Amino acid sequence: MTDTHRHTEDDDPAGLDHPYLLLLNGPNLNLLGQREPGVYGQTTLAQIVAAVRGTASGGDPPHRLIDVQSNHEGDLVDAVHRHGPGAAGIVINPGALTHYGLSLRDALAAVARPTVEVHLSNVHARESFRHLSVIAPVTTGQIVGLGAIGYTLAATFLLNLAATMEVDV
Ligand code: DQA
Repeated sequence: MTDTHRHTEDDDPAGLDHPYLLLLNGPNLNLLGQREPGVYGQTTLAQIVAAVRGTASGGDPPHRLIDVQSNHEGDLVDAVHRHGPGAAGIVINPGALTHYGLSLRDALAAVARPTVEVHLSNVHARESFRHLSVIAPVTTGQIVGLGAIGYTLAATFLLNLAATMEVDV
């Protein structure tokens, strides 16, 4: 799947009342599977989205997944504005926008939802320009260097957090 702008939503009308997680992927992540597999692994983005959707639907209560990948920062800002406020949580791999995407950071700060930043590779063991995340200060936390499973771990955390908050209310 190498489209430059993907956007899928569950189209299960019966599920429209279900809460949802928002999954955002930034530039070049549409190329996962073919792109530097020694660094990013062989799992495709479609496989990652399917795994996160499975984790979300297995939550208690089941969550839908809204999934957006774009190579354009403004598209991701629009997705945060549109889908962020209603999301139980946001899983985001901003790609290279991690390191300079200030409008994406500001959008996440504006919606202020529980957010986990995921990186497939261990950015801290790589070039120094990858050590800084301008996104991290507006997230709940990061999962770095664990490969594709980092996405489902992030979703599991957000589902647990949502369940805990529900109980606390
Ligand atoms: C990445 C790390 C970024 O530095 C890079 O620009 C990416 C992928 C990761 O998942 O390891 O595109 O976010």
